Amino acid sequence: MSRKGLLRSQLWFDNPDNPGMTALYLERYLNFGLTREELQSGKPIIGIAQTGSDLSPCNRHHLQLAERVREGIRAAGGIAFEFPVHPIQETGKRPTASLDRNLAYLGLVEILYGYPLDGVVLTTGCDKTTPACLMAAATVNIPAIVLSGGPMLNGWWKGERTGSGTVVWEARADHAAGKIDYQEFMDIVASSAPSVGHCNTMGTASTMNSLAEALGMSLPGCAAIPGPYRERAQIAYETGVRAVRIVEEDLKPSDIMTREAFENVIVANSAIGGSTNAPIHINAIARHVGVRLDNDDWERIGYEVPLLVNLQPAGKYLGEEFHRAGGVPAVIGELMRHGLIREDAMTINGRTIGDNCRGRVAGDADVIRDFDTALVRNAGFLNLRGNLFDSAIMKTSVVSNAFRERYLSNPDDPNAFEGRAVVFEGPEDYHNRINDADLAIDENTMLFIRGAGPIGYPGGAEVVNMQPPDALIKRGIRELPCIGDGRQSGTSGSPSILNASPEAAANGGLALVRTGDRIRIDLNTREANILVSETELAERRAELMAAGGFKYPANQTPWQEIQREMVAQFDEGMVLKPAVKYQRVAES
Ligand code: FES
Ligand code: MG
Repeated sequence: MSRKGLLRSQLWFDNPDNPGMTALYLERYLNFGLTREELQSGKPIIGIAQTGSDLSPCNRHHLQLAERVREGIRAAGGIAFEFPVHPIQETGKRPTASLDRNLAYLGLVEILYGYPLDGVVLTTGCDKTTPACLMAAATVNIPAIVLSGGPMLNGWWKGERTGSGTVVWEARADHAAGKIDYQEFMDIVASSAPSVGHCNTMGTASTMNSLAEALGMSLPGCAAIPGPYRERAQIAYETGVRAVRIVEEDLKPSDIMTREAFENVIVANSAIGGSTNAPIHINAIARHVGVRLDNDDWERIGYEVPLLVNLQPAGKYLGEEFHRAGGVPAVIGELMRHGLIREDAMTINGRTIGDNCRGRVAGDADVIRDFDTALVRNAGFLNLRGNLFDSAIMKTSVVSNAFRERYLSNPDDPNAFEGRAVVFEGPEDYHNRINDADLAIDENTMLFIRGAGPIGYPGGAEVVNMQPPDALIKRGIRELPCIGDGRQSGTSGSPSILNASPEAAANGGLALVRTGDRIRIDLNTREANILVSETELAERRAELMAAGGFKYPANQTPWQEIQREMVAQFDEGMVLKPAVKYQRVAES
């Protein structure tokens, strides 16, 4: 329905071929003070996709930032239309925020397609808000630019940095060990959230905003600026200006989100110490824009890239230091010096990523390291497979020395370990039974959790990083090998094997494992297997199917039912399967 040379919004507001509809479309948008001259003079109409609200505190200051975006849009000759995106608060939504990523995506697709918008500013922040917005921009393919809300200021407690999420895992273990009381536990956790903004650690939020920048979808430097800083409001204004220009230049998401750009994202994710949620969300964005990307790509392109960014949970610092040290451009600059970046990938400012980042160096060599002083050598993910699952990822860079010594230092067989499975049916079962002495959990146990994938726990629960029983923690064993079909918080440093696909609820191999089974993980061959015979496995499968397949809890809401019927597994980005075929829909 596009008419050559005209803006998309003119189909609504200035279409002489259909004066009746034009009048109908136009009159209600005049009633808050816009004039016909503004709406019919060919000014680009730029949406501000607002993800902030009282329900989404991580993104709430976008309500203020949007004013600066609006001023930028107006200064560049455009008109701003701000509208709400379905809220996704990582720490507030039951049963899990992840359930809502695809719902927000669907809603945003309908808005971008069905309303008079020529371009859009995507306000991002909290974990799933970034992928939901980018997935929708990929599907609709109107000019789109990401504005991160930025991380919170650093948290502090008794002179130590307290990082979002990460401090919760640590304080929880201290509380379980009786080192701190409940009041101190609560105070420590509260100290990690000192201002507006999203998580200040390299959790899923900072990961996804950094990767949106590495992908080329935000202005250089945008991801790392802390929410309350002066530069945050300034880049909000510049983003508004640029939103108008990309409409004039007809620079679309599909021009930027190319295979080359996604390869840069995988490299960048290793270098920043990005979240294990990244492959799920990035694979989803790629699928919606029509780029083939899978977990083998993540291992092949990303595994050997070193960890350069010294941020919690893998390192020491937090968001403020990352910004001061130069943020994403400084990381890309160092990766470019080692030939790891596809420099020709186009970015939203109309220049290539190479031109944006060439020669950029870290302003603080301890916060953003160079290759010689890298924190970890192979910082990417391994992609494991076997009779337990077809794909599950492991972030070996967070394996602690204690864990490495206990499990990976057998001189006859380094990088392989065996253990006895103890299986939990979802997070509630884990919480109820982890301290049950009858389970005989010791240092040779592997903890399994299932029923926690996209279907089993609709959206997938962030539960795979399971804390050992209190008795073991008191003996100084703070981590056990964990395997599951759920996800893991990006703020956790646990060396789990997670995002297992297909999940138990899709009758994958995890549905067949039993407490007491011997399990072998071989990081050399990338294999994960239950050590039972083929015959035994076939018998267990027949039994499972005769019982009607793996059981999971009933749906609680209409959306849970709808999503469960059509959701893909984690390795395919947990997308809604029927949605993938709709691409570049703005052109239809
Ligand atoms: Fe919202 Fe971490 S909880 S960004
Ligand atoms: Mg999370």
